[in-house]
Amino acid sequence: MKKDLQNEFLSTITHEIRTPLTSIKGFSQTLQDNWDKINDEQKKKFIKIIEEQSERLIKLIENVLNVAKIDSDGENIVLKKVNLNQVVKKAIELTKINHKGHFFETNFTGRELLTLADTDFCEQILLNILENACKYSPKNSTVKISTGTKENNVFVEIADQGEGIEKKQLPKIFDKFYRADNYLTSKTQGSGLGLYIAQNLAQKMNGKIEVKSPAENGTGTSFALYLPLFEIEDFTRRDM
Ligand SMILES: Nc1ncnc2c1ncn2[C@@H]1O[C@H](COP(=O)(O)OP(=O)(O)OP(=O)(O)O)[C@@H](O)[C@H]1O
Ligand SMILES: [Mg+2]
Repeated sequence: MKKDLQNEFLSTITHEIRTPLTSIKGFSQTLQDNWDKINDEQKKKFIKIIEEQSERLIKLIENVLNVAKIDSDGENIVLKKVNLNQVVKKAIELTKINHKGHFFETNFTGRELLTLADTDFCEQILLNILENACKYSPKNSTVKISTGTKENNVFVEIADQGEGIEKKQLPKIFDKFYRADNYLTSKTQGSGLGLYIAQNLAQKMNGKIEVKSPAENGTGTSFALYLPLFEIEDFTRRDM
């Protein structure tokens, strides 16, 4: 990494770490100093904030470690046969835990949709995209997930019913630390690393991520992960 980029990275990280830590320290102190003056409801509220900010720190550290891994040269990954449908199912189950207010609709192609990839990388990519789909779309809306093949690729597409991304911001969303400047990002937390990590991991597996906003049906946003097709085993062949 170049020196100025390194400095920029460090100052962003420092800021990202200091904000939640200041809040954790502040709320713990308030709780200690005013324990007998505040009611249970307020106490719960403060503890919840401490928990959320701790979560934010944990996620940031995981993301920074992921970035460090991506940036380190010479990391050789071994690609293995992966059934994309299976990884997608697992990623949806994990996303549901933290996003109970959303509905998930799936449309899988084939029983086994095989690609040469790294299961952990695929899971990380899908978790980042699914998390965004929920974070930037209203509660009670539906996230649609479909898998299939296109030319020599397998793909998984994740479409949300959110407000979408402004055209001029679209080319920047995969940049390190980039967050669009709008009310959606102001009311959510994030470090702008999720898509940077996702795109880099996809490229390491000879794949790519494409974004459409508005999505094909005219609203929301869709992200598609493409990976090289290995083989598809469909229902008809199995039933023969
Ligand atoms: N589904 C989406 N709908 C609308 N905007 C989106 C969507 N996905 C991403 N974005 C925009 O792209 C930006 C970059 O996304 P990215 O996942 O990299 O970062 P983040 O979600 O802000 O933080 P992090 O993922 O590191 O917690 C977001 O801040 C948001 O502005
Ligand atoms: Mg994100």
